[in-house]
Amino acid sequence: MEQAVLTRSGKGVGHEEAFEKIANVIEMYREKEGSLIQVLHRSQAIYGCLPLEVQQFIAERMGISLAKVSGVVTFYSFFSTVPKGEHTIRVCMGTACYVRGGRKIEEYLAKHLGVAARGTTSDGKFTFEIARCFGSCGLAPAMMINDTIYKQVNINKLDKILEQY
Ligand code: FES
Repeated sequence: MEQAVLTRSGKGVGHEEAFEKIANVIEMYREKEGSLIQVLHRSQAIYGCLPLEVQQFIAERMGISLAKVSGVVTFYSFFSTVPKGEHTIRVCMGTACYVRGGRKIEEYLAKHLGVAARGTTSDGKFTFEIARCFGSCGLAPAMMINDTIYKQVNINKLDKILEQY
């Protein structure tokens, strides 16, 4: 039986089907500037993450080295080589947020979710990451869940925020 790939949206797609879609994305972006980042973004959305076999496939099809692809994947925190949870929580640990309680938020979330930073909860619901500045330093400490930024967060607000997910 064909292996199912769990995408970020939680919908399973076939392994072959995912690679076919990635090949189409590569064709679409082949001649465009900055295409590798775009290809990686779209591929992560299709496959759910960017494991080595996906990186190898992209490198071969784009005619570039695996080292180059891996270098980009590991440089940007929004790329992941392992499947992510349904929602991604990012706690800012930039200077302003760190000084104003970012560490307390990290500790609370780690305890509450039962997973250390860069981990995914056992039910696959949340991936918990540490991030750098979101540009909301004036209202630190800040955190993000998916694309939503929460400002002036404190541990009393966290349960209410998480309940929405
Ligand atoms: S340091 Fe956290 S938003 Fe800037």
